[in-house]
Amino acid sequence: ESACITLDNGFGNTGSCESAITFLNGEKGILHYRGYPIEQLAEKSVFQEVAYLLYYGELPSQSELNLFKQKVASYSSLPQGIYNIIDQFPLEAHPMGVVSAAVSALSAFYPEFINPTSLSQADIDRAIAQLMGQIKIIIAYFFRRTQSQAPVPSDPSLIYAADFLNMLQGGEGNPIDPEVADALDTLLILHADHEQNCSTSTVRVIGSSKANIFATVSGGIDALWGQLHGGANQAVLEMLNEIQNNGGDYQKYLHKAKDKNDPFRLMGFGHRVYKNFDPRAKIIKNACDSVLQKLGIHDPLLDIARGLEEQALKDPYFIERHLYPNVDFYSGIIYQALGIPANMFTTMFAMGRMPGWLSQWKEMRASEATRIARPRQVYIGATARDYVAINQR
Ligand code: SDX
Repeated sequence: ESACITLDNGFGNTGSCESAITFLNGEKGILHYRGYPIEQLAEKSVFQEVAYLLYYGELPSQSELNLFKQKVASYSSLPQGIYNIIDQFPLEAHPMGVVSAAVSALSAFYPEFINPTSLSQADIDRAIAQLMGQIKIIIAYFFRRTQSQAPVPSDPSLIYAADFLNMLQGGEGNPIDPEVADALDTLLILHADHEQNCSTSTVRVIGSSKANIFATVSGGIDALWGQLHGGANQAVLEMLNEIQNNGGDYQKYLHKAKDKNDPFRLMGFGHRVYKNFDPRAKIIKNACDSVLQKLGIHDPLLDIARGLEEQALKDPYFIERHLYPNVDFYSGIIYQALGIPANMFTTMFAMGRMPGWLSQWKEMRASEATRIARPRQVYIGATARDYVAINQR
């Protein structure tokens, strides 16, 4: 089964693609990256190895992985102009807006990337290393600014997730717990790609016009920001906190979620493709237990989340609509336990999804079948009519 999509709205084939990157089976809850089950990758691999697999199609040898890690680590700083741009943002700015703007602004500092049709293989290899390397700098640098803390330089001796956490929380005398870094590394693996979701389709649509890679990825970041998509992980935590602040009565919120007159939806529940369970949610739920136990944290929000899931899975409304926890339902509880603030959860999703976006962009631009995305419509407006002079209206 090839994951083939059509870039149309069902009214005429205005563009389609085949993809060999990620396979989903929504009925069976199957997710494979380049044929490898997500369960095996989450257990046995590391994020940078998965990024290599997605981008190049095969698991790397040790020397290939070492070289890839060196390339990513070589992008451990930003042009001064990007730091200056980030410094202009108010401290209360949402980090997703900062990341999107900073990534787009990179196009001003790397003009060699402006014309995607003239990229060499070396440029293609550089794109993933540079954007994986620089997105974590952007996120960490803005966070440290909001905390009035000096930036912590990237440490190439650390694995990707540990380096990020060290830049976020590290510095003198505050070593990163390897267990914590491993937990974040696993979350990054689970978010790395997901076929033609909203933000990845956005990347393909923007990329199909031959916009530069920074503008293309920045568009994906903006699409991910929405609370129906990547923004759901922050919305889940806000929902759980609201339930806790209202006495923990999650039944009331289940009722609200079913009330068609109430715009409230159970955040972290439901999925356009998975109609039984999201395999990532299962892995994250288990990781939740082990991470909180290792850190000696008892988070009452986890009890509320478990209660919500247990009740929803017995409720005909949710059962009839195949609504189950998705990747965002438990992830925020782990991010919070790792000391990451809620308004940064979606930037974690963006950091994880970066290799997926770039792999799909690379596949799209290499395909001869790619044409500019141009969805059509069914016109339901006024029929043809003549102009009326203003003094006749
Ligand atoms: C991600 O596509 C991907 O792969 C995305 C993603 C990825 O890795 O890239 O997996 C990441 O975005 C996960 C989804 C995160 N979003 C949320 O958790 C937000 C809450 N979920 C819903 O908004 C919704 O379930 C969506 C957006 C995820 C899916 O929307 P759909 O497929 O358009 O579902 P729908 O609106 O057609 O819903 C079908 C029915 C409707 O009721 P009826 O009109 O049939 O009576 O189910 C209801 C909906 O009202 N419904 C919900 C619900 N989700 C759907 N009711 C209450 N709570 C919900 N969460």
